[in-house]
Amino acid sequence: MTYERFFSRGADAMRESAIRKMGGVAARVPDLISFAAGYPDPTTFPWDAFREIAAELLTGRDPHALQYGATRGYRPLVEDIGEVLATHGITSTFEERLVTTGSQQGLDLVARLFIDPGDVVLVELPTYTGAISAFRNAQAEMVGVRQEADGVDLAALDETCTRLRAAGRRVKFLYVVPNFQNPTGLLIGLDKRRALLEWSERRDVLLVEDDPYGELYFPDRASRGETRPIKADDTTGRVVYLSSFSKTLAPGFRVAWVVAPAEVIAKFDLAKQAADICAGALDQRVIHQAIHRGVLKNQGERLRAHYQHKRRVMESAVDEQLATQLQSTAPRGGFFLWATLAGQLDAEQVLARALEAKVSFVIGSAFYVDGSGRDTLRLSFSQPSDAELVEGVKRLARAIEMARR
Ligand SMILES: Cc1ncc(COP(=O)(O)O)c(C=O)c1O
Repeated sequence: MTYERFFSRGADAMRESAIRKMGGVAARVPDLISFAAGYPDPTTFPWDAFREIAAELLTGRDPHALQYGATRGYRPLVEDIGEVLATHGITSTFEERLVTTGSQQGLDLVARLFIDPGDVVLVELPTYTGAISAFRNAQAEMVGVRQEADGVDLAALDETCTRLRAAGRRVKFLYVVPNFQNPTGLLIGLDKRRALLEWSERRDVLLVEDDPYGELYFPDRASRGETRPIKADDTTGRVVYLSSFSKTLAPGFRVAWVVAPAEVIAKFDLAKQAADICAGALDQRVIHQAIHRGVLKNQGERLRAHYQHKRRVMESAVDEQLATQLQSTAPRGGFFLWATLAGQLDAEQVLARALEAKVSFVIGSAFYVDGSGRDTLRLSFSQPSDAELVEGVKRLARAIEMARR
């Protein structure tokens, strides 16, 4: 039996993410060093604290720990999130917050709330593949705007929006990852953040700000002040802000949040009721306790030092082995080195050779909604050990040489 005639148009449009696909490939290649997945390093997870907290929660004294809960989220955690936000300059009321099952669900709910088939969503070129999937599933037409060193090119953004509207298209929102963007590692400058907010008001467009990496700035290249969310200066309710505990505590809990005006959050609540009723009760309680016991607070500095070190290891290996083969960005935080191959070599060709050499990465074109970026690649330094970073870069250098022959 074939099922094509049963699938919806939305299901037809679904595509596997390039990153997930690489995960499948990686699982089949023994001894592969992966620069593909942007996973946090599990050695940084506060295992002891989690074990202690989970054991206490599973004594059965609190029956709610394994029960359904409010769609909005576990109240003490929703309150904690308010405090976390305040440290980033965002003031919010309880009614303006909602816990999501990962920020990925936040993006899916954004798509459900704001996109009708054919609506235009503006995205950075390149942009996060998970957002591309969520918006594509809702049958949005994504239009990319090129980026400069300090983020999206404002003149190109305005020109694109104006042109689309003149052609009768509905432009709903601009999706941005201002802090250490996945995949480029770019940090949007503070002036540009203010200009984006002003632009969104002038053009009556919503801003969807996705900020999972804000805590992970590298102290040798960036400061906390430079990561100030756009949402912090949003006085008129233009910005829907998403963030997550995936990169600061652990992604396995799938606990994240969205902040938006109360009227919008009420809609998120309705959409989430249909999606999963509520985020995991146990997960939310573990995160709440981790915050309450100071675990989250201790993570920040530790993680910044840890990933800054990893970045240095990868950057110096790249300088030594690959300086003539590719040009890479100097990220100021986050998990990624973004590289452009010299001589317009095709990254897909390099990937085939790389897998033979037992190293993987994500081809850059997966992050471009316009099919460009064929000579780019994303190298994630977050998970491999120092020795693997060095060895992986050597393998990549061999693979690029082979691909050039
Ligand atoms: C930019 C961006 N947004 C959202 C997510 C999803 O995070 P979560 O684990 O909270 O679903 C990721 C994960 O890598 C990401 O890089």
